[in-house]
Amino acid sequence: MSNKFYITTPIYYVNAQPHIGHTYTTIAADVLARYHRLLGDKTFFLTGTDEHGAKIEEKAKAANQDPRVFVDEISALFKSAWKEMNIGNDNFIRTTNTAHIKAVQKAVQFMYDQGDIYLGKYEGLYCRGCEQYLHNKDLVDGKCPDHKTVPEKMAEESYMFKLSKYQDELLERIKSDDLKIRPVERKNEVVGFYEKAGLEDVSFSRKNVKWGIPLPWDETHTIYVWADAFLNYLTGLGWDGSVPLSADMVKDFWPADIHLMSKDILRVHATIWPAMLLSLGLPLPKQLYIHGYFLTDGQKMSKSLGNVIAPEDLIKKYGADATRYLLMSATGFGSDGDISWKWFDEKYNADLANGLGNLVARVSNLIEKNNLSININSSREDLRSKFSELMQALKIDEALKIIWDEFRRADEVLTREQPWKLTDIEQIKNILEPIARDIVVSAELLSVVMPTTADKINKIFTAPAIKKGDSLFPRI
Ligand code: MSP
Repeated sequence: MSNKFYITTPIYYVNAQPHIGHTYTTIAADVLARYHRLLGDKTFFLTGTDEHGAKIEEKAKAANQDPRVFVDEISALFKSAWKEMNIGNDNFIRTTNTAHIKAVQKAVQFMYDQGDIYLGKYEGLYCRGCEQYLHNKDLVDGKCPDHKTVPEKMAEESYMFKLSKYQDELLERIKSDDLKIRPVERKNEVVGFYEKAGLEDVSFSRKNVKWGIPLPWDETHTIYVWADAFLNYLTGLGWDGSVPLSADMVKDFWPADIHLMSKDILRVHATIWPAMLLSLGLPLPKQLYIHGYFLTDGQKMSKSLGNVIAPEDLIKKYGADATRYLLMSATGFGSDGDISWKWFDEKYNADLANGLGNLVARVSNLIEKNNLSININSSREDLRSKFSELMQALKIDEALKIIWDEFRRADEVLTREQPWKLTDIEQIKNILEPIARDIVVSAELLSVVMPTTADKINKIFTAPAIKKGDSLFPRI
């Protein structure tokens, strides 16, 4: 029986163009979506852009642009970056879409009518980089540890969301894995936060931010940008803000199976977002999965350090498929990683140019030379089930490793048997046929990460007369 699978990425801020971190999350989500499609699951993959709030308002102003024009431009850059990277998302949600705006207004009105939103005052610190309220204890040397900036002091009338009301229920749901947070260290951090700090009511509206969605009952306030943003996970399916869920798409796909993200935004996803869903009476997502955080050459990537690796530079150098492979194998999926051009070049040459590319060329060349006809059908249930086990556990990098073990084994057989020295056609075929089969099965699995390459390999080996194709990965 086929299942449904709904996966999301965070919607990215449009204050700057896409970088490698966004690219990593988006490729990973694409890989998981492709894997579920391969299984025959009814799959929906959502990504998009987060376009309101103080940070973007300020950026547009600095660029001397109308915010509308500014967000249109940058959102389009994300869209085209994903196209270049061969990302097969089913929808691209923008929080400035009219339908999203209307749904958000309807949802917060419902929460207000429930008594979960009340007029109060927020006095405290705010980091624009995070678009989050901070406490003194969050700061390092008086600064936001993520953005290294001094947060602004705020004291203004604000509509507050009764987050504290949901403390006990959410803690219970997280502890019991009803709302699963993985890797488990991340779950433990969240549980620790609930147990030590606990949930306080949170400011849900801003009087001084104009670039946002007005509250339907008091248009002098705009909705807190995170509340607006979270609801994308529902509006991206076509939700119009009504509860209970009515539209088919929403009923079919909600709750999300995986919200993918990095640790920078875990806490809000594990507190405010599920509390909003409880307030709306809607099911919680099944899992928050927190992948690793990337550094370049041991340092945070930043323009001033000059160590930014841009996704388009990777594509220019290696092509989209190889970029997808390199990023997915750069680090254990849940662990932080360090990347550098040197590492990318070495990995590309070892695994792709000398590895897979060379293997496919050698085998297809020998088959062509000896004019062999090959039956490429094979099941390799062992390989498929090992691969599936790892993909189900979101161990993408390890799933890739077992495919490469196959390629290495094939290389070893060739080196040992040296079919190019043989003359007996049967003998040559007995060596090459199983290798060709293994390559084809491996390529089918690899298609989730390298769809174009997998397609090329499949075409080479299923052609009526096999011919050595063009080199898949020219050496760098
Ligand atoms: N707009 C919010 C998310 C709202 S979701 C309802 C936001 N946007 S963001 O543009 O800052 O994207 C953050 C996400 O980008 C991270 O959680 C992660 O998925 C990805 N990455 C950004 N930098 C990264 C690294 N250096 N390394 C790995 N991924 C990182 O937060």
